[in-house]
Amino acid sequence: MPLDSKEMIAMVCYMKWLSANVPIGKHVRGDEPIELEIPDRAADPEKGAQIYATNCSSCHGKNGEGMWKPDSSTYINPPLWGAYSFQRGSSPSRVLKIAAFIKANMPDKIAKWQKPFLTDEQAIDVAAFINDDRIHLRPQKKDRTMPDYADTRVKPIDYDTGPYLDSFSELQHKFGPYKPIIEYHKAHNLAVIY
Ligand code: HEC
Repeated sequence: MPLDSKEMIAMVCYMKWLSANVPIGKHVRGDEPIELEIPDRAADPEKGAQIYATNCSSCHGKNGEGMWKPDSSTYINPPLWGAYSFQRGSSPSRVLKIAAFIKANMPDKIAKWQKPFLTDEQAIDVAAFINDDRIHLRPQKKDRTMPDYADTRVKPIDYDTGPYLDSFSELQHKFGPYKPIIEYHKAHNLAVIY
């Protein structure tokens, strides 16, 4: 964005507003993802589909399309897959990353980070359903020649595109089981990021 564009100025104003009265260089409550207990098994998109139908589709739509304002200017409830959703390679397209968000915040108005609604396993399963690219399409980054993680050493373990510093498959990185990956990384002094 050009530095003097309306959008850039709006963004900078918003960030200044967000950081008003916030201590510089210190943590504030809620600025880190909630802890997730990693299950021994892989995430299960089929179980996630059930959880989605029961707890999420009323707001996010049967087909993940969300709910738009009548004038389509913005959403009331955001789409979770499809042409208007977050793109592949973004943080929410990582199963563990979005599962932590879901655990702390969804269903909206019901879950609170102090009092999650779904269990950790349910949050991970529904995250896997939302991000199952075999059944759900979402926007692709236009330029695939630039890797999202130029430095493989800081690639999150739930990122679904190689190369990796281990020999686990892309599918296992995406859906798990994550514990063997975490153990391998720890044993070989590699970062464990998710
Ligand atoms: C009562 C309506 C409602 C229900 C039910 C609900 N959500 Fe949401 N969801 C929202 C709203 C509203 C937002 C936007 C929150 C914001 O921007 O602060 C949201 C945001 C999200 C996001 C972030 C999307 C993005 O692009 O940033 C995810 C992921 C999500 N919800 C998943 C779920 C899952 C999974 C469930 C079921 C367990 C669920 N939601 C149930 C209303 C709902």
